[in-house]
Amino acid sequence: MTAALRGSTMTFIHQARSLDRSGRIGVVIVGCGYWGRNYARVLDELPQSYVAAVCDESLERLGAIATAFPTVPVTNDLDQALALPGVQAAVIATPPSAHLDVATRCLSQGVHVLVEKPMTTNSADAESLTQLADECGLTLMVGHTFVYNAGVRKLKEYVDNGAIGRLYYLYARRTNLGPIRTDVNAVWDLAPHDISIFEYLLGSAPEWVSAIGASLLCEGNADVGFVSLMYPNGIAAHMHLSWADPNKTREVVAVGSEKRILFNDLDPLERVRVFEKGVSRVAEEPSTFGEFTFLQRDGDILSPMVEASEPLKNECEHFVECVRTGQRPLTDGRAGQRVIEVIEAIDESVRANGVPKGVPGTKGVPGAFAAPTQEVVDASPAIAAH
Ligand SMILES: NC(=O)c1ccc[n+]([C@@H]2O[C@H](COP(=O)([O-])OP(=O)(O)OC[C@H]3O[C@@H](n4cnc5c(N)ncnc54)[C@H](O)[C@@H]3O)[C@@H](O)[C@H]2O)c1
Repeated sequence: MTAALRGSTMTFIHQARSLDRSGRIGVVIVGCGYWGRNYARVLDELPQSYVAAVCDESLERLGAIATAFPTVPVTNDLDQALALPGVQAAVIATPPSAHLDVATRCLSQGVHVLVEKPMTTNSADAESLTQLADECGLTLMVGHTFVYNAGVRKLKEYVDNGAIGRLYYLYARRTNLGPIRTDVNAVWDLAPHDISIFEYLLGSAPEWVSAIGASLLCEGNADVGFVSLMYPNGIAAHMHLSWADPNKTREVVAVGSEKRILFNDLDPLERVRVFEKGVSRVAEEPSTFGEFTFLQRDGDILSPMVEASEPLKNECEHFVECVRTGQRPLTDGRAGQRVIEVIEAIDESVRANGVPKGVPGTKGVPGAFAAPTQEVVDASPAIAAH
């Protein structure tokens, strides 16, 4: 079987459905494994879109899709899927190593693209995709799903309206036993979520990173990473990423002067918890300048109302709206590229056993961490002699 899995019925089904689908955006799902199936379900449920076809290189996967979505045309021929009438957009949920090729083919055929994270496997490819989309006047969005998560949005409210006080630091734990991927390591697979959450909360990329990683299960492919990131204004962040951990965790904690806020995506009842606790530094009255005491404040633990909405549905609604209006997506190609640049800096730091590495387009590593100049190296024995 080379083209349409269901041969001539494919066109027939599409024409029959298009009668009552006028005005809706036809979307091709490319890559319909674990995650692509969710896109197929959501985009077919949205009133503004419909799944025009599913394209996967695996005939076995297509067979499963044909059973689950009996009225959706399926094919292993991307050009055929993109040429169907009504197709305006494509969602790419293939493994990352295929993102560049598939996205380039879609954009070149005038089709808007939502590509999964990580956008590409290097920043040069991410830049060229963004340029291509801009030249063609097409929407290019990256599936940084957590930016569309109501719990993360609630956390951002506390940061933006100042209720958290001065934001001191952030940390994230994203661990599980698998799923283990073969074309990217755990950092490339998991870090895009937390880097995009941190950027969403802080409005900027980190200036430098320092990271160590370990290959425990797959030789040469790190399955655990401990990453520190420094953001502007001295806001520190940390990510613990692993697919070799016994427990599944999906947490982000923001610690501020007034509150400490926990986002736990795995807690359906209390997705966000706000701890009204803090420590203030208070100058002692008649004492000399520079003397302080610390005042501990204990308080309530609150569970604010978090809208019950599916993050992927919010993301797809935003994509369809951007395709319809030409509005630039919140997580556009540049946002995808920035995430890749941070991951490339993390890779560099891991290779250098944790030496801090600057992120392109930012102030980078402060002088104190810069590689020693030759003068400093030459001077060091003399310093040691003192
Ligand atoms: N945003 C999120 O929360 C989230 C969650 C899971 C996965 N993802 C991302 O989604 C993507 C897919 O992950 P998955 O877990 O579904 O993987 P998967 O292996 O389950 O599915 C990938 C599918 O793509 C198909 N495929 C491979 N190359 C192809 C090509 N060139 N053309 C057409 N089909 C092709 C495979 O046959 C397979 O069916 C990855 O980029 C992953 O990082 C994102």
